[in-house]
Amino acid sequence: MSDTDPIGLDRGLTNYGDPDFARYLRRSFARSTGISPELLSGPVVGIAATHSGFNNCHRLVPDLVEAVSRGVLAAGALPLPFPTVSLGEVFLNPTSMMFRNLMAMDTEEMIRAQPMDAVVLVGGCDKTVPAQLMGATSANRPAVQLVTGPMSTGRHRGTRLGACTDCRSYWARHRAGEVDAAEIAIVEGRLAATAGTCAVMGTASTMACLAETLGFALPGTAAIPAVAAERLVAAEAAGRAAVALLKTPVTPDRLVTVKSIENALRVLMAIGGSTNAIVHLAAIAGRRGIRIGWDRLNAISDETPVLVDLKPVGEGYMEDFHAAGGLGAVLRELRPLLHLDTVDVTGRTLGERLAEPPEWIDRRIIRPFDDPVSREGGLIALTGSLAPDGAIFKRAAATPALFETEGRAVVFTSLDDLAARIDDPDLDVTPSDVLVLQNAGPHAAGMPEAGYLPIPKTLARAGVKDMVRISDARMSGTAFGTVVLHVSPEAAAGGPLAAVRSGDRIRLSVSAKAIDLLVPPDELARRLADHRPPPAPERGYAALYRRSVLQAPEGCDFDFLRG
Ligand code: FES
Repeated sequence: MSDTDPIGLDRGLTNYGDPDFARYLRRSFARSTGISPELLSGPVVGIAATHSGFNNCHRLVPDLVEAVSRGVLAAGALPLPFPTVSLGEVFLNPTSMMFRNLMAMDTEEMIRAQPMDAVVLVGGCDKTVPAQLMGATSANRPAVQLVTGPMSTGRHRGTRLGACTDCRSYWARHRAGEVDAAEIAIVEGRLAATAGTCAVMGTASTMACLAETLGFALPGTAAIPAVAAERLVAAEAAGRAAVALLKTPVTPDRLVTVKSIENALRVLMAIGGSTNAIVHLAAIAGRRGIRIGWDRLNAISDETPVLVDLKPVGEGYMEDFHAAGGLGAVLRELRPLLHLDTVDVTGRTLGERLAEPPEWIDRRIIRPFDDPVSREGGLIALTGSLAPDGAIFKRAAATPALFETEGRAVVFTSLDDLAARIDDPDLDVTPSDVLVLQNAGPHAAGMPEAGYLPIPKTLARAGVKDMVRISDARMSGTAFGTVVLHVSPEAAAGGPLAAVRSGDRIRLSVSAKAIDLLVPPDELARRLADHRPPPAPERGYAALYRRSVLQAPEGCDFDFLRG
């Protein structure tokens, strides 16, 4: 920003064909807020506030906005909160994923259209941080990400509970007949014990760590619990940092680079993070014209150990991670593998940050590089005749005994078909079969978190805990199992997944990073020739979504929003 550029409310005047009138009118209306002319004539920091009655994870956003405002005011600028779309993961139909791009567009356009010199983005629940980072990257105005922070754990009969890995394990035990209806009702009230995002290294916490790695969030803030006083201090610091950015701008185009995306992938592997983060990172990178190649992803995964022992991969919860040293401790262990010349919103390089003396580290939660939880990274990409454009597999959360599997396909053609037949006592299924779900990808269904197909009740009751499951859907970051996700192209787009029939043979090879449909190519071509895409919605956002959404390797972004 040069000295002659307009600042604050003088930015981006409403177009009446008379700029002086527009400035006069805007100031006149701004005076009706009761804010002093001195503050109204200075720099402005917008605060993207995402409080919503439909988003429990953002329950404390009003407190955070107040603390950010305090920091902005203390640093000499005017804080102006503004609302955007808010996405509460479990309150959206058909799936929150479908609305991530809507929130990203809202965020981008409101940053650009309203007169602010910098913005603090307050988000937390799974899709909100990716949406805010996508929007801010495209708007390219100085931006600081503040996350709401993770929930603290609850207790049930002496056992710690945290949303939502424990939601799934208790539900699986309920389906298997081990936990009765009365107990599951009690557990329901104890899983999500406080405000904040899910208590494990699910998608929200993964994206919080990646926002800090990319440099959008202040160092040390990703994992502070939602209810901690420290979280409010971080909010105040975010407000001050946004004002500091006015003097020394570090715009998002300096934060989202090939190197920072590679650092983010390293961290994703080391924390045993969510598969969803691959889609979101691809979308954020795509806003700058950067593409994540599967070979590079796999090389990074093979070189980067899992260092963090948290659910769903390990045992701990996010509150333990923060107390153990948090992301800073992980970055320090990964130092030899990281690009150290990336910068963050403070203007410091990662190398400068990591040159500071380390704090105490709890080695039960954050392991040293040479004594990791696992020598290889948590996620890999698979390719093969079933997924020519790739699929994602979370090996850290899968059953090693199933890594090299050839099995018979049991196909469900849609989410409705899955719901109707998975627990049918007459379903022809054995533990060595491969469950396949079609038509749950971005075009067909908005790509819901349906890839964690339930184990058929007949098998669950017989003690089967895991099976190979394959789909074009996603999986919650809090889930676990031998689950192949994001198969691309999706079935509805005519990918080979559409051609799978029950009884076909499928081979998963984690060592070869391959997923293959063992059907002769000519037979596959014959089946696909008959494929018809599902009918497209005709109006509104659903029609725009279907027309414009890209496949998972492009982050399911809209084609017209890519960089
Ligand atoms: Fe909001 Fe898990 S439901 S973070």
